[in-house]
Amino acid sequence: MAIRKILIEGEDDLLRKHSRPVEKFDKRLWTLLDDMAQTMYDADGAGLAAPQVGVLKRCVVIDVGEGLLELVNPKIVWSTGSVVRPEGCLSVPGRRGTVERPEKVRVQAQDRFGQPIEIEGEGFLDMALCHEIDHLDGIIYIDKMIEDVTDQYETEDEE
Ligand code: NI
Repeated sequence: MAIRKILIEGEDDLLRKHSRPVEKFDKRLWTLLDDMAQTMYDADGAGLAAPQVGVLKRCVVIDVGEGLLELVNPKIVWSTGSVVRPEGCLSVPGRRGTVERPEKVRVQAQDRFGQPIEIEGEGFLDMALCHEIDHLDGIIYIDKMIEDVTDQYETEDEE
């Protein structure tokens, strides 16, 4: 495993591109997922999407304190409600801003072997799912930011 360099918004246009679906569930993918998890933990993040390490593949890793989630080709298939919460991003260091997201989402994805998985998330997990899946379409939370609240927060987990 290796820690990869996290791209910073404004410095690299890879963050703004659409990622391609993963078709091969091979060693190369597993190395990417391993490296993404290590990179996320090293940066004290709660989530990381492949484009943030310069790889345009549809995969994300998330850990909101309930263990590591690896999601390949994740898709939001259902959502309900709406809630405004502060978010941060490892690719936008030192800033936080509020974003409106659904209250609860259901996501279908595949695991590292290509097996289908489905998860439901609310609260912090909901936010992490929405935030990371946005990265796969080149969207960063600041694009949707309602208010910059950087001043109101000490450093916390960043996505
Ligand atoms: Ni992010």
